[in-house]
Amino acid sequence: MKKVITYGTFDLLHYGHIRLLERAKALGDWLIVGVTSEDFDKARGKINVTETLSERMEAVKALGIADEVIVEEYEGQKIDDIKRYGVDIFAIGSDWRGKFDYLKEYCEVVYLERTEGISSSELRARDRLRLGLFGNSTNVDKIERESGFVNGLEISGRWSDENEFEKLLESSDAVYLYARPERHYELVKKALLSGCHVLCETPLALKKEDCAELLSLAESTHLVLMEALKTAFSTAYGRLLLLLKSGKIGEIVSVDSSCTSMEDFEGMTPEELKSRFGSIADWGPTGMLPVFQILGTDYEEKRVCSKMHPSGNGLDLFSRIDFIYDSAVASVKVGKGAKSEGELVVSGTKGYAYVPAPWWKTDFFEIRYENPAENQRYFYQLEGEGIRNMLAVFFQAAVHGMRYQAIDARVTEGISSVIGDFYEGKDLRVLGGGK
Ligand code: CTP
Repeated sequence: MKKVITYGTFDLLHYGHIRLLERAKALGDWLIVGVTSEDFDKARGKINVTETLSERMEAVKALGIADEVIVEEYEGQKIDDIKRYGVDIFAIGSDWRGKFDYLKEYCEVVYLERTEGISSSELRARDRLRLGLFGNSTNVDKIERESGFVNGLEISGRWSDENEFEKLLESSDAVYLYARPERHYELVKKALLSGCHVLCETPLALKKEDCAELLSLAESTHLVLMEALKTAFSTAYGRLLLLLKSGKIGEIVSVDSSCTSMEDFEGMTPEELKSRFGSIADWGPTGMLPVFQILGTDYEEKRVCSKMHPSGNGLDLFSRIDFIYDSAVASVKVGKGAKSEGELVVSGTKGYAYVPAPWWKTDFFEIRYENPAENQRYFYQLEGEGIRNMLAVFFQAAVHGMRYQAIDARVTEGISSVIGDFYEGKDLRVLGGGK
């Protein structure tokens, strides 16, 4: 019996796929189809596959062409499969011509002509989302660049003047917002009331109540309102949270995160200083994310110690936020005028998790124990600092109504209220007597 094998994502199954499978089957007597898993697709850069693995497998099975449908999960699996199943022919579309010649060592390799005029990418791009960009920062540049990797996501334009916000809303289905934190509430509300989905930099607002109001407004208008906290969308960080929840390091007693990036404030005019973000505004949300996602938001005490810029503009050069919970503690260090090691350490009763700097865009972490021989290292692919994933999730939520919540509403509200308190000077101790 001649065995043939082929692989693909088979998202939104189309006649190009069907023709390929029919011809592959005709090459032998038994056809095995490998459908790529979500993780493997992500690792090779396909981030906005619309259907789940089981939906795609079901669709391929339902055609009745394949004799066996398997999952492709890892790099190098093709060689394993060919040996394990005793495959005679490896067949694939001509878009891959030459790429799989290395398999000739194990079986015959056949490239079948690709069907012209159809692809999953093109079908996905039929669902368009026009994203208007608001703000002036390198963050906006990154969003613009990364949007190119999400099929169907189109940039409708870029604005930075609030007087032109209406124009942005008129020409967009969704908006990405980068503004001073105190402007977020009003702009998000305006966008939602105009029927636009919103991806907003954190914090969403400066009061818990305002946050809750915006989130419920989004829900009642069936619009997506997401906080643009890219770390929450990074695979390594997501897996770390799951491992911690499964008790890998025992009961958690402490979460310590640190995020710093130096900015040269020297010689800036008061006007320039006013337009800058302080340490808490810039780094606070990222620093607090693991604290709230691991320990929750029901802390009993909170204290912020800040070293202020001498200008009296309320700009913090460095801040440390301490939280005391019933059975754990947490500390967040943020700095734009002071430097520290940007690592994340989560301590538990059995061991600890260590994420090296810069932890907020990591592809790696380690679980460490008293006996180093038990340590385990974890690596995950990180594309575009997590922004690419974040945009894909936002797109899927807005266009296909997929509800994947990377950040819980309580976490969003918790972050906002800490930053709001800081602006009001609540629970704040200023170091060195500055203003
Ligand atoms: N294929 C084909 N003709 C097409 C589209 C795909 O012959 N018009 C083949 C591919 O060459 C591959 C298999 O179908 O052998 C599965 O391809 P897949 O990557 O899942 O489909 P695409 O439509 O190419 O997906 P995308 O646009 O996401 O790359």
